[in-house]
Amino acid sequence: MPSNKKNMAHLIAPSILAADFANLQRDITMVNQSQADWFHLDVMDGRFVPNISFGMPVIEAIKKHAQKPLDVHLMIVEPEKYLTDFKQAGADVLTVHYEVCAHLHRTLQAIRALGMKAGVALNPHTPVGLLADVITDIDLVCLMSVNPGFGGQKFIAHTLHKVTQLRHLIDKTKSKALIEIDGGVGLNNAQTLIEAGADVLVAGSSVFASANPTQTIEQLKQLKPVALYQD
Ligand code: DX5
Ligand code: ZN
Repeated sequence: MPSNKKNMAHLIAPSILAADFANLQRDITMVNQSQADWFHLDVMDGRFVPNISFGMPVIEAIKKHAQKPLDVHLMIVEPEKYLTDFKQAGADVLTVHYEVCAHLHRTLQAIRALGMKAGVALNPHTPVGLLADVITDIDLVCLMSVNPGFGGQKFIAHTLHKVTQLRHLIDKTKSKALIEIDGGVGLNNAQTLIEAGADVLVAGSSVFASANPTQTIEQLKQLKPVALYQD
């Protein structure tokens, strides 16, 4: 089956959770000047996940300096209450978790109606097949490759099977959804992920804890799949 991602280069989205919050403008400038495509912003509420990160004021501050789209990943309960606030704060892509959305279709429609790209994130235990009836209403599926809540965790290898399954679902339905991988992504597994069909790689620790973040972003960006999805 022809894949609709054949000619699309993968995108790199550095996760600001791993940046130096006391030098946020410096790290934003680094991302602006790098080959990164998006800023990945992790919002955590201490309820859906056992950690609290940052919210609207920090996103607004980042928006003032960021020259690339803001990919906002909501790890919060009741995300539907705050869609307008995140739009006003500057989100370009807004991702909600499948596990907290009783009315996922409605929430996705509301995100799109506000002029944002609508994303759905799946926890490691949540099957890809649960998105079958809504996949053409999604702009991005974020496959969590760690349990959400913290940066710097180990990549869960099973995610690779989920990428392959999701690639088939997207191609079969002619959905335009991008596949994003979030958690434990770095130069050790990025090649395999893009060969399996990933479109967007989130990278926190592997970028910001590296000796040369700009160069690490470039290395992630320059990877070329050797066998891009066979017909
Ligand atoms: C985890 C977050 C990730 C995190 C990734 O809950 O959603 O975006 O920042 O960090 P690394 O790349 O360090 O695993
Ligand atoms: Zn994230």
